[in-house]
Amino acid sequence: MCGIVGYIGKKEAYPILIKGLHRLEYRGYDSAGVALINTQGNLNIYKAKGKVAELEKFAEDKDVSGHIGIAHTRWATHGEPNQVNAHPHFSESEQLAIIHNGIIENYALLKQGLMKHGYTFRSTTDTEVLVQMIEYTQHTSKVDLKTAVQLTLNQVVGAYAIAVLDKNNPNTIVAARKGSPLVVGIGKDEFFLASDATPIVEYTDSVIYLEDEDIVTLELGKEPIITTISNAQKTPEIKTLEMTLSQLEKGGYPHFMLKEIFEQPQTLETSMRGRVNVDQNNIALSGFIDNKERFLNAQRIIITACGTSWHAGLIAMYAMEEFAKVPVEVEYSSEFRYRKPVIHKNDVVIAISQSGETADTLAAIKLAKEEGAFIFSICNVVGSSIPRISDSGCYTHVGPEIGVASTKAFTAQVTALIMLSLCIGKEKGTIPEEQYLQILQDLSKIPEKITEILHQNDRIADFAKTFTYAQNFIYLGRGYNYPIALEGALKLKEISYIHAEGYPAAEMKHGPIALISQEMPVVVIATRGHTYDKIVSNIQEVKARNGKIITIVTEGDTLVSQMSDYCIAIPETAECLTPILSVIPLQLLAYHIAVAKDRDVDQPRNLAKSVTVE
Ligand code: AGP
Ligand code: GLU
Repeated sequence: MCGIVGYIGKKEAYPILIKGLHRLEYRGYDSAGVALINTQGNLNIYKAKGKVAELEKFAEDKDVSGHIGIAHTRWATHGEPNQVNAHPHFSESEQLAIIHNGIIENYALLKQGLMKHGYTFRSTTDTEVLVQMIEYTQHTSKVDLKTAVQLTLNQVVGAYAIAVLDKNNPNTIVAARKGSPLVVGIGKDEFFLASDATPIVEYTDSVIYLEDEDIVTLELGKEPIITTISNAQKTPEIKTLEMTLSQLEKGGYPHFMLKEIFEQPQTLETSMRGRVNVDQNNIALSGFIDNKERFLNAQRIIITACGTSWHAGLIAMYAMEEFAKVPVEVEYSSEFRYRKPVIHKNDVVIAISQSGETADTLAAIKLAKEEGAFIFSICNVVGSSIPRISDSGCYTHVGPEIGVASTKAFTAQVTALIMLSLCIGKEKGTIPEEQYLQILQDLSKIPEKITEILHQNDRIADFAKTFTYAQNFIYLGRGYNYPIALEGALKLKEISYIHAEGYPAAEMKHGPIALISQEMPVVVIATRGHTYDKIVSNIQEVKARNGKIITIVTEGDTLVSQMSDYCIAIPETAECLTPILSVIPLQLLAYHIAVAKDRDVDQPRNLAKSVTVE
């Protein structure tokens, strides 16, 4: 993971780099560091363990001048998260500095070779090997920096986005990527470099998304030069950013997560705009329309994703089987890619990813593509790696999601997947017209129903405080709301550090029921639907063992609400859409428990937003 940022231009680099690191901090925050070449030609590196704020404190009394620099916020893979292992790393002679996002798999072998040539290593990272090899290559092959980077990367196995500074070349940054994202920003007399566009957006909207195996040379006064690592010349494709600066700010909310929860009425409206057409009684997804035959001929749909996106995939399994009558398998990308899965040419593989950069999901679809399957992706970040290698797809368009815990991206993923299920079902004639029209109507009313639920925020904040004592939580749901039990539990774990398990409600009696005591809060999603009576019995089973019952019910419900210690009502909607509503109070519950426990809500420990390593 980790975030990398670079600047070369007429301005002071340090403030731009620090601001950029803050924007990228969601990607990792084990340590941070910066390398700058000042006007006297010195290459200064400053690094600190912990968040970017620690680096700022550390650098307060240092010389941070310079118009060229690179900076890094780390999520450690190799080597302890301490100051020595923080990036940037110097080369042996301290002529070069490098930042890296990714993993060099054959680093141990390369390191041995370099040590034989007298190179010494300061850190225990895989990254340091790269900078040493680049220097070694510069010296032994007598080549320029770009060629040395190129020759080095040809020997490397693994994933990387790197940027290199050379003290002897204070007007140039050389950067490259394979498997980890990298964006170049083109301003007037200046260039930017970053893991995503967020550090760039306030300076320019002209960007180049580098492709795998691209190397870019950014030299002041010249156009960016891009080649591949096998030295093929490429013509840079300049794109215009759609992102705005206000999307990257908290807008008066104490945390990004709360802002993002409250944005959901509007983000879902945007996600559905032009797609859910109530006047024409039609749902139109261009990625589906253009590839209709692939979906209609699919013998099977395989959904692959990680974490919260995987939960969205599970909901899709219920919807696609119900409406499109097609068998669906939902796979953790990390398991799927290593399982030697049987993939047929007429399978459709759907990848779901907010970031579009998750390494496991990327690898899973590469594998499926090799086997000839059709790849459809549902992603949020426009121009990211997963949509770029997919055959088709659908963006969720919820704007940047900055809180590490996914909220607005999830509801948009579920919405997109339901829309897709309805499109396939309608085209195949496997969904009754009346039901299709009803769900279409209900979809269009989802934003206003979420607004209604958000009115209960204060009440949820209030009773959340009574649960800070809990060491464990159980979340139960059935059918479409079973994945919401998993998602509610994941949200709580991630940001409050309370252990929580999500279970299909009926499975509770096969084991987890042993955990229930009067200390155990049990959250049950008990909205009206075809398993409502069954879930009422499951609640009775918890009640008989004195568990604390928190329920999510449909408005007007009296039966379950009387059995509950705390009850949150959500508006009635089509059963397949209830997850989009029932998850909202669970997002708020997790948020307020975490706040009451004084946790770092937007950047919980050990996590990173975008998991670009395996
Ligand atoms: C969500 O709250 C998590 N932080 C995490 O599980 C996330 O959903 C997962 O890493 C997948 O990310 P992606 O959607 O960007 O692929
Ligand atoms: N593998 C490198 C390290 O552990 C980079 C990790 C990252 O991408 O943050 O330092």
